[in-house]
Amino acid sequence: MKHQINVTINGERKTLQIYLSETLLDVLRREGYKGVKFGCNEGTCGACTVILNGRAVKSCIILAAQAHEGKIITIEGIGTREKPHPVQITFVEENVVQCGYCIPGMILSAKALLDKNPNPTRDEIKSALDGNLCRCTGYRGQIEAVLKAAEIIRGEKK
Ligand code: FES
Ligand code: FES
Repeated sequence: MKHQINVTINGERKTLQIYLSETLLDVLRREGYKGVKFGCNEGTCGACTVILNGRAVKSCIILAAQAHEGKIITIEGIGTREKPHPVQITFVEENVVQCGYCIPGMILSAKALLDKNPNPTRDEIKSALDGNLCRCTGYRGQIEAVLKAAEIIRGEKK
């Protein structure tokens, strides 16, 4: 039997029909948010990261039912081709986008951090990105990218 949940996804209020056993990852992808990536499906890789009520969470280990009345942000909800989010700009500038599979989750983890703390230390960035694995690159570039994005957000850099 399906159940109804109400959520706000990228600012849009939606009513979704879900099974109680479904993960938030499965439901978001079914609804067309394909930027939410399917990786390990057990909470270790971070490819499925979204922001739920201001916190970066792994949507493969959250039931969709737990998001009822929640506010969700996926990669589709931040930045546009014409006006990318600062983290999207600096990830490209720092050449950390290779295959791209980890990137939506990583950018959302970085955004969740910067929304709360626009002046993070390297260690705070490391800890915010700790749950996002990348098979293609090292992790130094991402940290530099988040530091640069923070400067843009603080208005210290264009
Ligand atoms: S798919 Fe969710 S953490 Fe890997
Ligand atoms: S860019 Fe390929 S997994 Fe990160």
